[in-house]
Amino acid sequence: MKIITIYFSQTGNTEKIAKAINQSFEKDHEADLRELKDIKNNMLNDYDLVFIGSPCHSADLVKPIKSLLEGIPNNPKYNLAGFFTHACFPPELKENKELYEKWVGKCRKTFEKISSEKDIKFHGCFRCLGAPSAPKEQFIHKEIVTDEKEFKEYVAYVKPHPDEKDIQDAQKFALDVIQKVA
Ligand SMILES: Cc1cc2nc3c(=O)[nH]c(=O)nc-3n(C[C@H](O)[C@H](O)[C@H](O)COP(=O)(O)O)c2cc1C
Repeated sequence: MKIITIYFSQTGNTEKIAKAINQSFEKDHEADLRELKDIKNNMLNDYDLVFIGSPCHSADLVKPIKSLLEGIPNNPKYNLAGFFTHACFPPELKENKELYEKWVGKCRKTFEKISSEKDIKFHGCFRCLGAPSAPKEQFIHKEIVTDEKEFKEYVAYVKPHPDEKDIQDAQKFALDVIQKVA
């Protein structure tokens, strides 16, 4: 199968996941790994499966990734799967469910909405935490996790991500998608 993994990443978290995804199948498939800036929409037609990855900014995918998705023609011949990294409110901690929806929830919904509008064969998306940059960490402290103790716990929790388990989970996700598409 011909597969491309496309990503946008400012501080390396989403790039780390993109590389892990690509690495999981590069031996068995014709695999390309590209930064978003190197992509033109019509290039995607060369592939059977396209993975697209973004950081979460303002609770949604970043604008350039949304533009790429919006530029996909109706009913393309290729399959699509997504991935994103985010710094806030890991949903694996139950008490965070509502806050996760508020601060991250649009990422998955944007993939789903555009795929449904354009009749894209969409196979879901992978998410994991990605440590915020220092300025973003300060923003989170000022605006979201204001309590000193909670903020310390938050930083200790988020700092190691994406970690080895995130990488393994991303690779499992990618291989599951490939199985569905094959
Ligand atoms: C401008 C900006 C806005 C962000 N907004 C959010 C947000 O709304 N929710 C969230 O969970 N993380 C947010 N983050 C944190 C990033 O999504 C997270 O750290 C991500 O892993 C960064 O990925 P990258 O290293 O690939 O750029 C934001 C980061 C930046 C720089």
